[in-house]
Amino acid sequence: MNKIFLAGLLLALTASNTRADIDHGKKLHDEQCTECHDSSVYTRENHFVASREALLKQVNRCELNVGAQWFKEDVDDVVEYLDKTFYKFK
Ligand code: HEC
Repeated sequence: MNKIFLAGLLLALTASNTRADIDHGKKLHDEQCTECHDSSVYTRENHFVASREALLKQVNRCELNVGAQWFKEDVDDVVEYLDKTFYKFK
């Protein structure tokens, strides 16, 4: 292994660690979050989550209900997925 390869590898690892992974979030969501409600609750007219902070709280609440035992990173990925796909807060 040469130094340039290592530097590239490090960069790739750092990048994937700091940015929430939407694909991963979608996978987690589709596996564990569709038991009680489908995605229509996120886009219904009177949906009650109205900010990114509220979304994080709600995902945490529902995740605790499911007992999925996600890591913080997993929660972040799902929040990112729901925000980018449905809520579009930022
Ligand atoms: C045990 C049943 C259950 C499961 C499983 C569940 N939820 Fe929920 N979730 C609810 C209920 C109940 C509501 C409130 C729905 C309503 O008011 O009609 C809700 C609402 C929400 C909302 C807010 C929708 C809005 O109005 O803006 C979000 C976001 C959400 N859930 C995310 C998730 C995520 C992420 C998961 C997977 C970890 C998940 N839910 C799994 C029960 C569940």
